[in-house]
Amino acid sequence: MISPEHSQYLVSNYAAPAIEVIRGQGTKVWDSQGREYLDFTTGIAVSNLGHSHPHWVKQVSSQASELVHCSNLFSIPKQVRLAKRLVQKIGPGKVLFCNSGAEANEGLLKLARLSGNQDSDSPRHGIVVAENGFHGRTLGALSATASPKYRKGFEPLLPSFSFAPLNDIQAFDQAISADTTAVLVESIQGEGGIYVAEDSFLQELSKICAERKVMLLLDEVQAGIGRTGKFLGFQKSGIIPSAVAMAKGLGGGFPIGAIWISEDYAEAFGPGSHGTTFGGSPLACSAAHAVLDVLEEEDLISATREKGETLHQKLSQFITKYPDLVAEVRGRGLMLALAFKSDPAPLVKKFREAGLLVVGAGGHAIRFLPPLNVKDEEIEQAINIVDSTLSTFKPDEAST
Ligand SMILES: Cc1ncc(COP(=O)(O)O)c(C=O)c1O
Repeated sequence: MISPEHSQYLVSNYAAPAIEVIRGQGTKVWDSQGREYLDFTTGIAVSNLGHSHPHWVKQVSSQASELVHCSNLFSIPKQVRLAKRLVQKIGPGKVLFCNSGAEANEGLLKLARLSGNQDSDSPRHGIVVAENGFHGRTLGALSATASPKYRKGFEPLLPSFSFAPLNDIQAFDQAISADTTAVLVESIQGEGGIYVAEDSFLQELSKICAERKVMLLLDEVQAGIGRTGKFLGFQKSGIIPSAVAMAKGLGGGFPIGAIWISEDYAEAFGPGSHGTTFGGSPLACSAAHAVLDVLEEEDLISATREKGETLHQKLSQFITKYPDLVAEVRGRGLMLALAFKSDPAPLVKKFREAGLLVVGAGGHAIRFLPPLNVKDEEIEQAINIVDSTLSTFKPDEAST
């Protein structure tokens, strides 16, 4: 039961929720009625260690009793160490901290502006972005998001953005003009429906950007931090982008965002040019250190590749078992989607009623985003719920 005060006091910018989640442990969460669920949403690719991982809890609790916040007026040793760890994982460059995915993308867009304005005689302002992408809800990030469903009512947005279909290298080639300063893509489109940017596409795009001196910006907000079986999703392709946005999984549930900037552009933001009160606080950085510790100590990125392979195979059996319903399985690692032949929204509800939390996406997709340390038996339980739900589901219910 949802309290009537929910809609009385909260702005209704989210669809009305069906359950109150009050506790989590590992892959499981419990609602206020005591019902247990397998959490394959992880707060939309955030709680990559599962809920209440003991190392994370210990690090965050002990930092909370030492120093929560002190401002970027002062050097924060954990922030410096976190930047160093990220540089070691991504490549030579520098890091700027913020608080969310949209804010990280705003950082990328402002960096692209600085770079484009460098030549004051012929400044370049254009940014080419993949269609069907999602980059956040602030006005800049929204301007980079093509789908009308997010933009509606908020126009006019920022000028200078143009769009090309993901994986269509010719379309990107044509969209990049003399005015283009940057290209921005997700390595896997999350909200759009789990569409993977092919390695060959990223490699070609990287070449074109280098030839035309255009920045290549990667939005790793949803795909990053181990979820695809690499630390960042684009790393499978071997490219080195100009800058990368991260958030979600980085804090394991505590808000933190970051942008990594390659050496070529790392000095663009000078003192006073950009900033945020909370970005990279001692508490946020302790949460991110705990995430990186566990990724390394429990070898979770390799585990993600193996478990992702298992989950992919098990989901794929539904393509032949339920051919009227299921179209395909998309994604990498533990960022997977079961794509349906028609709108699967009613199935999200039925899975929940059967004890499995999943989240919809574009492209008639339901996303499966379990913690990276999900147990084999939990994958099996989730698959059994999907199977038994699909076995009684009528195709015409899918579009109601
Ligand atoms: C790829 C991508 N970029 C940016 C964002 C925005 O992140 P936030 O909601 O933390 O602002 C999201 C959120 O879903 C995302 O998936």
